[in-house]
Amino acid sequence: MDRLVIEGGRPLSGTVPVSGAKNAALPILIATLLTDEPCVVENCPTALRDIRTTVRLLESLGKRATVEGAAVRVESTGSLKTQAPYDIVKQMRASVLAAGPLLARFGLVRVPIPGGCAIGLRPIDIHLKGFEAMGARRIADQGDIILSAPRLKPGVVKLRFPSVGATENLMTAAAAVPGRTVIRNAAREPEIEDLGAFLTKLGAKVTGAGTATVTVEGRARLHGARHKVIPDRIEAGTFLIAAAAARGLVRLTGADAGHLEAVIAALRRTGATVKSGRGWIELRMERRPKPVSVRTEPYPGFPTDLQAPWMALMTLAAGFAKVRETVFENRFMHAAELARMGAQIAASGGTAVVAGVERLSGAPIMASDLRAGAALLIAALAAKGRTVISRVYHIDRGYEAVEKKLARAGARVERLK
Ligand code: EPZ
Repeated sequence: MDRLVIEGGRPLSGTVPVSGAKNAALPILIATLLTDEPCVVENCPTALRDIRTTVRLLESLGKRATVEGAAVRVESTGSLKTQAPYDIVKQMRASVLAAGPLLARFGLVRVPIPGGCAIGLRPIDIHLKGFEAMGARRIADQGDIILSAPRLKPGVVKLRFPSVGATENLMTAAAAVPGRTVIRNAAREPEIEDLGAFLTKLGAKVTGAGTATVTVEGRARLHGARHKVIPDRIEAGTFLIAAAAARGLVRLTGADAGHLEAVIAALRRTGATVKSGRGWIELRMERRPKPVSVRTEPYPGFPTDLQAPWMALMTLAAGFAKVRETVFENRFMHAAELARMGAQIAASGGTAVVAGVERLSGAPIMASDLRAGAALLIAALAAKGRTVISRVYHIDRGYEAVEKKLARAGARVERLK
């Protein structure tokens, strides 16, 4: 298992390119199951394990998926299977997004129920209730859910919570259902907008993606398309927070500041100077951060995926900050590891109170999930001395060549194989 060795306490300085968004690329790649015509998805973070797992998922279902640099070409090889393999679903929960397109096209799908994960229970009831509202029947069998509906019906589906995955699964299904489906209380994340743009290129008509009401006019037959994925706002946010913690001046290219308004506003309140233009964001930080409390919320609120990185930044603040997690029930695993570096954090339920310290010190620490791993990396960059992070495979799920990108900003990060 790889480890990252970080010599911290050095300000960052340099230009870092931002990759395409993992969480936009995954549903878009899976939505290629809607058509037998070729699709090319560009600006994919193809070095990430989750993208490779998605390629394997598509192949296990009967597609040919070829990685060409940052693009994935998906082609038909004949008929598709309607059963997703458990060994892939257990590695990547987003595999459940195959249910929508396969159910809509073939009237039957069998998907393993993804279990819980390090950050919460993560049930899929909102996805399933949505399919039921479109006329599907479901039965549970040996850890799998079997959904059937000779023909899904268009109509109005109201979600009890704006789940990102459920919105994506239902939009993708609705794209292949002739007629108008309206999803209310939909998630508004930029990744939903990107999926809507892709489905529209396939021949469906999606309006309102990015608002709480998404309307999909589906078609029985969809065609191929070429699409460029949006920049990864969580990767960009992670690098900005890293620069605020380690101090210095970092410029991100290929980034979209419009997707990070809540985060940039919070960064400015810490005392950082943030500037942006078309396709770039720059952050300068010259002092100890002021404490800034955040509460995670669905988009456009402060993203849960940047809660752990934010907590890492607040461990160095000049005062107390509150960090509230409202989206996942168990997303503070990083707090105990940060404490090993000298952080002062009291966490209970969904609230953590962080008392900033002047300096963290390097230590051997362990990543427990993707964004917790990113938080440890940020703390390590700012800390005095050497930190060794183990279980780096978690970080590799969401950050392409992270040590190379950070090296471009002058960080001393080395990967031990
Ligand atoms: C997506 O997960 C992202 N993953 C997550 O990113 C992100 O943290 C999350 O959205 C929230 O922004 C991908 O896009 C692949 P949800 P998703 O359905 O779709 C509950 C990362 O680090 N819920 O919006 O699974 C659920 O348990 C990952 O890149 C139900 O109760 O998120 C959670 O508490 C981690 N029933 C909340 O809703 C359901 O049927 C939000 O989940 C569905 C969700």
